Amino acid sequence: MDKSNVAVLKEKILKLKSEKDVVILAHNYQIPQIQEIADYLGDSLELARISKEVESKVIVFCGVKFMAETAKILSPLKQVLLPVIDAGCPLADTINTEQLLELKKKHPGAWVVSYVNSSAGIKALSDVCCTSANAVRVVKNIPVDKVIFVPDKNLGWWVQKNVSNKEVVVWQGFCDAHEKFTLEDLDKTKKLYPDACVMVHPECRKEILQKADFVLSTSGMLSRAAQVEDKRFIIGTEEGIIHRLKRENPDKEFYSLGKEKICQTMKKTTLVELYESLAKGIYSIELSEEVIAKAKTAIERMISYV
Ligand code: 13P
Repeated sequence: MDKSNVAVLKEKILKLKSEKDVVILAHNYQIPQIQEIADYLGDSLELARISKEVESKVIVFCGVKFMAETAKILSPLKQVLLPVIDAGCPLADTINTEQLLELKKKHPGAWVVSYVNSSAGIKALSDVCCTSANAVRVVKNIPVDKVIFVPDKNLGWWVQKNVSNKEVVVWQGFCDAHEKFTLEDLDKTKKLYPDACVMVHPECRKEILQKADFVLSTSGMLSRAAQVEDKRFIIGTEEGIIHRLKRENPDKEFYSLGKEKICQTMKKTTLVELYESLAKGIYSIELSEEVIAKAKTAIERMISYV
């Protein structure tokens, strides 16, 4: 799309947005043009909180399906739109409700902690949810000694490492994009920038988590980069965040840990899909009242813990 088309499309989006009382939320992994037009940009936890607080009638969620579902669960009276119907999360798809019910049968009494990167059905079967920003705090808070953690094996491992007084049964799902970062990538990038601070997302492999300087959510990386004196950072997460880090810290340098990794489904939303979504009211997230009520309890318990 050439620059003049982009400008026209942006103008049309902004016009529709005010006419229809819409707020646009976007995850940190979205493409730069979406990041720039969004009303709010954030990590999963921030966006969940914002979706609950905003007053507009319609939320357009530029992210992936589980994020839009979380917004719908927290604000069932609002219309929540996901611009691309098949913008799913392969990690969330690694577990279904039958598999979780089996696991619950095997470990009676254990609390189910589901990472928000899971379907609404999984959340509805969970005792509490967590995000990458609060998983350790959530698990420390729960009142039983045994936890079933789904679906991310690396975040589950990180939780177990940091919460030694509880047993954590970990589902072996993983994120395709984060799993691609290797120790070799880390060693090579560190050789190039030996003074850089290494910040990685907890969905990275455990050998990377062990060697990183900081294990953080996407917004945790943004806050740290802005607050500390360091000038160079090696980033181990989806490349969308690097755009935001550079924009917000023009005096600092950010390098991807190895070749940049892309979450394909996050990149499906462009200004064209966003415009269509606003113009046609697509694709509306619909969930049953029962799923909403149960999943809401798990998400609100998370929010009350942190
Ligand atoms: P954050 O909550 O850290 O933004 O992570 C979301 C996500 O989907 C990571 O793959």
